Amino acid sequence: MIFDRNEKKEVIALLGAGSMGTSIIRRFAAGRQILLGDISEKNLETVGDDLKRSGYSVETMRVDALDRASVGAFAEKAASLGDVMYFVDTAGASPNQSSPEHILKLDMVGTGYAIDAFGKVMARGGAGLVVSSQTGYMMQVPYEVEQQIISTPTEKLMEIPYIKETAMQNSGAAYIVAKRANHLQVQKAAATSWRQRRARINTISPGVIVTPLAYDEFAAAGDAYQTMIDASAAMRTGASDEIAEAGAFLLGEHAGFITGTDLLIDGGTIAAIRCGQYKLEIR
Ligand SMILES: NC(=O)c1ccc[n+]([C@@H]2O[C@H](COP(=O)([O-])OP(=O)(O)OC[C@H]3O[C@@H](n4cnc5c(N)ncnc54)[C@H](O)[C@@H]3O)[C@@H](O)[C@H]2O)c1
Repeated sequence: MIFDRNEKKEVIALLGAGSMGTSIIRRFAAGRQILLGDISEKNLETVGDDLKRSGYSVETMRVDALDRASVGAFAEKAASLGDVMYFVDTAGASPNQSSPEHILKLDMVGTGYAIDAFGKVMARGGAGLVVSSQTGYMMQVPYEVEQQIISTPTEKLMEIPYIKETAMQNSGAAYIVAKRANHLQVQKAAATSWRQRRARINTISPGVIVTPLAYDEFAAAGDAYQTMIDASAAMRTGASDEIAEAGAFLLGEHAGFITGTDLLIDGGTIAAIRCGQYKLEIR
């Protein structure tokens, strides 16, 4: 049976078919063509089937966010399906899942590859969203290093001395610097490549959101997370749907004047750290 006879549908591409990404695209993918990209064939099959059974038009493609060519092919595939109006990037790994090098290569360089690739195919009026993290606010990256991150091409980011020395010290530092870099990478794209295509791009920085990735964090550092959650104003974890709500706003028409910025959605964790209610240990 053919559920949707519309041939020319707007395209929404999701890189990282995980919990938060899927919640975000469900908000406005009805009547549009979804393209899912992920390194995990299993995730692609499970999430793709679930979306299809819920009435969405879905194609899937195995993509390795660490590989510029693979990400470029994903963007080209999206463009071949129709006007690419939306791009969401949630491919990432957390501190307790990976080495510092892997985190920096995936969460910073891989994100850069995606921003660059979709900066070549976005349709006029389109919008992008990169999921960064509250951790991007947890350490002050020196101003001159931030300027280097902005001015350095994506494939050379790992050569910045601060990245090679300070950020590589442990997975916590690597994650913080990678997620701060995402804010800067998105600012740069909003002002340059995405601007040229008349498309907007923003980041969201979630706090602790209960997803499979977060369960890996709780298993490795549950006590530290519990103390952080207890010190926050919200005194609870967040849900992917709460991030999706904000994501749908930032991607949607009511956010037409918002580009190159970040929305921190953390239940007040960063406020607690800034005001001395919680002392952060970077491991
Ligand atoms: N869950 C949280 O508490 C939290 C908080 C702040 C930020 N984040 C960030 O949000 C994003 C999404 O996280 P989530 O919690 O939805 O996790 P998730 O594990 O559900 O989703 C991440 C997805 O990225 C995919 N992925 C991993 N490596 C990849 C690669 N090389 N190429 C392509 N895909 C790859 C995974 O297969 C997975 O489907 C991540 O960037 C994460 O760092 C999560």
